[in-house]
Amino acid sequence: MDFSNQGSNHRYSFASAYEKFMPFVERAGLSQKRRQLLSQVSGKALEIGAGTGLNLPYYTHDVELVAVEPDAEMAVILQTKSAGRRVEIIQCRLSDVLSSGIKPHSFDYVVASLVLCSVPDADEALATISQLLRPGGKFLFIEHVVTPGIYEILQKLATPLWKKVAGGCHLDRDLLGALDHSEMVVTDLIRFNFPLGKPLIPHGVMGVARLKSDFFD
Ligand SMILES: C[S@@+](CC[C@H](N)C(=O)[O-])C[C@H]1O[C@@H](n2cnc3c(N)ncnc32)[C@H](O)[C@@H]1O
Repeated sequence: MDFSNQGSNHRYSFASAYEKFMPFVERAGLSQKRRQLLSQVSGKALEIGAGTGLNLPYYTHDVELVAVEPDAEMAVILQTKSAGRRVEIIQCRLSDVLSSGIKPHSFDYVVASLVLCSVPDADEALATISQLLRPGGKFLFIEHVVTPGIYEILQKLATPLWKKVAGGCHLDRDLLGALDHSEMVVTDLIRFNFPLGKPLIPHGVMGVARLKSDFFD
């Protein structure tokens, strides 16, 4: 797919701000988390909200990757960074993936990093992810989460403004709560201090979730 003429003309560009800021966060420890989580990916994988391609270096070359990214400017950067790799890029939202020709239950892995804070509805997103996984498949995530107490108050106060400059990101998303009542069950979980995240993004989680139907009838 050719994204060359689809860049945004808006004065403020989240994609370009993200490209400038994230190298600091990556060096402060996030890249190590990405590497740790993604080294297990094999077979056919779907990454949702792949952004500017910060996960790409951590997939082995035999992974057959489909990367979904709705932001036109990010998709251009993603395409550039994908050169020479086995990646199909689809420019659409997660909610439109299943009507874009992607077959349900067809992925060994679905990957989301720093995405479920930005989708409009986390429950709906998790339901779609469950539909994309094949039986036995794994959902891998690295996300920031709501931090109860004083931080949560700050996160709730800051979210309306933050959403406007950070691509719709909700600082106060309760991802683990949403996973709890999804069709998946978390099988591995690591909590960590989000690099350079304080005071708005103090905590992150990374882990693996699998379909409940893999364990129960
Ligand atoms: C903070 S960036 C994270 C990018 C990348 N995953 C990373 O780890 O650096 C959030 C990403 O979620 C994407 N996004 C937002 N809403 C989405 C949706 N409804 N479906 C799929 N991706 C979405 C954005 O376009 C952006 O690429």
